Amino acid sequence: MLSKSMQEALNKQVQMEAESSQAYLAMASWAEIQPGLQGVTDFFYKQSDEERIHMLKLIRFINERGGFAATPALEQPMITFQSLRRVFEEFLKHELKVSDSINDLVHLALTEKDYATHNFLQWYVNEQMEEERVARNLNDKLEMIGDDKSGLYLFDRDIMNYRTQKE
Ligand code: FEO
Repeated sequence: MLSKSMQEALNKQVQMEAESSQAYLAMASWAEIQPGLQGVTDFFYKQSDEERIHMLKLIRFINERGGFAATPALEQPMITFQSLRRVFEEFLKHELKVSDSINDLVHLALTEKDYATHNFLQWYVNEQMEEERVARNLNDKLEMIGDDKSGLYLFDRDIMNYRTQKE
């Protein structure tokens, strides 16, 4: 059975995953209307779907553990971007924020000796390591490429290989 404080903290994480899904949906939509960014577009549509899965896993867990997962209200995310670099900087910034939040949850689970939740959260800990790795990698690549058009062409072509989802 979840404590009230754990239920509240997990529900905040539900909101964060839902916001992530919205943020990446907005990035996908922005990329889709730019010329030549089909790979980036697909990448963020897929990321958005993945965040929804993260959210659903939490909802199911909260309810299965005797709590109640409240469907969150969402604010509109950033919908336009000055550049592709900006999109990926936001992506990394966002994932770092999510990692901090997961770490706080793990800390709370240990403090409350809630080992079931602690065990459940390990999936998220691993997922965040992977997402951070991919986000950093893509930012490094973009920095190297700069304004080189052929570099950007290859970046867009190859980005699906960097997807964080394990299929
Ligand atoms: Fe579910 Fe990318 O954090």
